Amino acid sequence: MELLELMKYRRSIHKYQGRQISREDMETIIEAGTYAPNAGGGQRSIIVGVRNAGLAEKIGRLNVARFDRSKLSGSYVSADQPSIIDDPTMKSGFYGAPAVCVVFAMKNFLYSIPDAFCCAENMALMAAELGISSCIVARGEETFAGEVGAALLREWNIPENYIARCFVTLGYCDGEYPLPKPRKPRRSKIIE
Ligand SMILES: Cc1cc2nc3c(=O)[nH]c(=O)nc-3n(C[C@H](O)[C@H](O)[C@H](O)COP(=O)(O)O)c2cc1C
Repeated sequence: MELLELMKYRRSIHKYQGRQISREDMETIIEAGTYAPNAGGGQRSIIVGVRNAGLAEKIGRLNVARFDRSKLSGSYVSADQPSIIDDPTMKSGFYGAPAVCVVFAMKNFLYSIPDAFCCAENMALMAAELGISSCIVARGEETFAGEVGAALLREWNIPENYIARCFVTLGYCDGEYPLPKPRKPRRSKIIE
């Protein structure tokens, strides 16, 4: 797909089929993440791909366990793809996606968060090009804050000075793929 067309096509998907993505596709998506622009060219972010539906569900549940809804009053994301923000009965922040990539970045690096989200956007676009649906999900920090999360980080050998910043859920859209949302007007200008 032509790049701008792909960018318009990519949507955050909140309903997934059970079908797993291939290991090869996950490798390509992670590779795209590693080519994201990164502050100072330091290539500091670390990406862990979880291609295991049970483990993705477990982490997705940890992702909402510490979610502070009090800061979200009046928030509404989408009628066709209701999100965790719209529906407090949802148990997993990953919406049943069978795979997820976790993006880690250095705890004390000034550009740690933008670095991680640049990785995530590259991965979401790569996924769309491969026909794989995705959603960038926040709250990486809280997700691994408890003992269950800490045990996973030890198992994955994540360095002590790293923290999860975000996730990219991966899978195949269940139901109708949503159309692009119209853009709000007057959000840009060009000065000559
Ligand atoms: C920084 C950032 C954080 C986000 N966090 C979440 C999240 O925690 N959960 C979620 O379902 N979507 C999350 N999203 C996805 C947005 O909700 C989504 O991009 C937005 O509603 C626009 O919809 P679209 O991606 O389909 O165009 C996040 C997106 C960004 C850029």
